[in-house]
Amino acid sequence: MKSVWNKHGVLERRSILLTVAILLVVSVGGLVEIAPLFYLESTIEEVEGVRPYTPLELAGRDIYIREGCYTCHSQMVRPLRDEVERYGHYSLAAESMYDHPFQWGSKRTGPDLARVGGKYSDAWHSDHLIDPRSVVPESVMPPYAFLAQKELEQKDVEAKLAAMTKVGVPYTQGMIDAAQADLRTQADPFASSRDFRGRYGEAVLQRDFDGDPARLTEMDALIAYLQMLGTLVDFSTYEAEESLR
Ligand code: HEC
Repeated sequence: MKSVWNKHGVLERRSILLTVAILLVVSVGGLVEIAPLFYLESTIEEVEGVRPYTPLELAGRDIYIREGCYTCHSQMVRPLRDEVERYGHYSLAAESMYDHPFQWGSKRTGPDLARVGGKYSDAWHSDHLIDPRSVVPESVMPPYAFLAQKELEQKDVEAKLAAMTKVGVPYTQGMIDAAQADLRTQADPFASSRDFRGRYGEAVLQRDFDGDPARLTEMDALIAYLQMLGTLVDFSTYEAEESLR
């Protein structure tokens, strides 16, 4: 019986033709999957609560990157049961939408930090960064005591915010102009915070993070950053899509 399948021999006996045919089939599949992503307004689902970093948090994040904390710590809770039970709700794409570069990572000499915000007090973080063994005796984390001594560089913060706008972070001109003032306001519990909270929301943390009110140090910035990680989305109100549960 002659059927259409016998014609397959034509392809199978000619390797070049077969290669071309395979490329054709694969590229149709690729186009159907990939092309729509370029035309969608956004491929990241927007989630309530996610906001750009405050100037102090952004400075802290830069210190985190400068010191290579990412070489031992990841910042992404994978949607696997053991991870969710240990760290909390798995990370959403929207939670790192303002991270340039993102800090997901894959190396975990230390624990994942995506949800470390609010887990410890500021004093714990400061003790831990100055001498990790003072609070976790078996720790292999290196000490970063110099952060508490080093004044935070404040002059470049407008430029940092402006640079972030180039890659799509929606800082307004008002936020950029007020960046230095906002940087100091967040680390000073007695500063008037009306304008600062107007820009970054009521939930933003404002206090003296390093326990040294006289100075604005790199420790202030790094702890401000650590304490907000994973705290922006209120997961008691967040409804995941059915397919993701
Ligand atoms: C050489 C690897 C290494 C580097 C580099 C490192 N850490 Fe760690 N970190 C660890 C280990 C191991 C632990 C777990 C033991 C402990 O709590 O000290 C840890 C724990 C932590 C914790 C507590 C997490 C929790 O949930 O208990 C925080 C916060 C932290 N590190 C922040 C940082 C920051 C910020 C930096 C960069 C300034 C940094 N680490 C650099 C290895 C590292």
